[in-house]
Amino acid sequence: EKGGFEHFMLKEIHEQPKAYRDTMRGRIDESGKKVVLPELKLTKEQIKGISKIQIIACGTAYHAGLVGRQAIESLVRIPVETDVASEYRYRSPIVTPDTLVIVVSQSGETADTLAALREAQSHGAHVLAITNVVGSSIARDADDVIATLAGPEIAVASTKAYTSQLIAFYLLSLYLAEVRGTQTQDEVARIIAAMQALPEQLENMLAKPDAIKAYAEQISKHEHLFFIGRGLDYAVVQEGSLKLKEISYIHSEAYAAGELKHGTLALIEEGIPVIALATQDAVLEKTVSNIKEVSARGADIMAITHEEHVVSLLKSVNQAFAIPKTLPLLTPALSVVPLQLLSYYASLARGNDVDKPRNLAKSVTVE
Ligand code: BG6
Repeated sequence: EKGGFEHFMLKEIHEQPKAYRDTMRGRIDESGKKVVLPELKLTKEQIKGISKIQIIACGTAYHAGLVGRQAIESLVRIPVETDVASEYRYRSPIVTPDTLVIVVSQSGETADTLAALREAQSHGAHVLAITNVVGSSIARDADDVIATLAGPEIAVASTKAYTSQLIAFYLLSLYLAEVRGTQTQDEVARIIAAMQALPEQLENMLAKPDAIKAYAEQISKHEHLFFIGRGLDYAVVQEGSLKLKEISYIHSEAYAAGELKHGTLALIEEGIPVIALATQDAVLEKTVSNIKEVSARGADIMAITHEEHVVSLLKSVNQAFAIPKTLPLLTPALSVVPLQLLSYYASLARGNDVDKPRNLAKSVTVE
C-alpha cells in the first residue's frame, strides 16, 4: 500500500508530480493560453463585481493560502485577506455580498474551517472551497468547489495536498485574471507553460535527495532552528517550519528575513542552524543582507536558491542547495519540496513515527 516507500509521507512527496498533472488536467484549454474551470458556478458577472477576497484555512492549508494571496493580488489586483479559520469569526470580519471567500481544506472536515464558511455565507458571501475530498462537509456546504486531485493523503503531515492547493490557486488566479482582463493572453500563456513544466522539474529534484538527507541528519541533533525568507519565500518557510515541528519535534521559527533585526536576532547564537530560502530574485539582495546579519553572529546557514546564485551565496552561507528555475510566482511549488524532505529525514533520524506524529490528527473536527 506504500508502493515500495518506507512511509506514506515519502510516497506522497513522490506523488506530487502526478498530483500537479492531475490537478491541471482538463483545466487548461488546448491552445495552452487559457484556464477553463467549467465546474465554477461563480458567473463572469459576479467575478467582475468582486471587491475583495478572503482566504480562510488552518495549518498547512493556511500556508497555501498565503501563496494564493500573492498569486491573486499580483495577477488579478483584487485585495486579499488571509485568516486562520479559528480566528476569522471572532474578529467580526467585514464580509459583503461582493466578497469572495475561499476556504482551503485538504480533508474538507476541519471544524474551524467549516464554521468560518458558514459565518461567511451568513453575510451573503459566495464561498469557494479548494478541497481534496469532494464528498466532504466543506465541499457540500460551499457554493463552489475546486477539487485538488492529489489522491488520498494518509500521512498526517500534508505534502501533496499543499502543493496541489498551490496549483489550484494558480489556476484560479489565471481564470480570474482572464475574466477581469488584468493579464495579456501572452502573459497567461507564459505562466501556463511554466506550470506545465513543473511536474518534470519536480521529478528531477526528487531523484536527488541525498544532500538534503545528509543535512537533515545534521539538524536532527539540534533542538532549535530558524527559517528565513522574504515574500513568497517567507510564505514557504512558514510551511517548512510547521512541517519540521509537526514530525521531527525540533522547535523552529519562520521569520520574514527583514524582521529578524527587530528582535529575533537576539536568539541567533554560535552554531544555530538557519535555513534561508533565497529564490525570489526581486528581493535577493535584501535577503543576502539578512543572511549576513545571522552569519556575523555565528549561525550555521543553509541556503536554498537557484544554481546561478550558489557561488556568491557560499561567501556567506555554509551550504547551498539549488532548485530548478521557474517563474518567481510558481517557485513555491518547487521550493517547498526540499523542506518537506528535510522534515521527513530529520524525523526519521530522530526515530519518530513519521506518518503518525504525536498529538496530531489528520483532520480535526472540534473547534
Ligand atoms: C491539522 C492537520 O489538524 O489540520 C494539518 O494536522 C492540516 O496537517 C490542518 O494542515 C488543516 O487540515 P485540512 O484538512 O482542513 O486541510
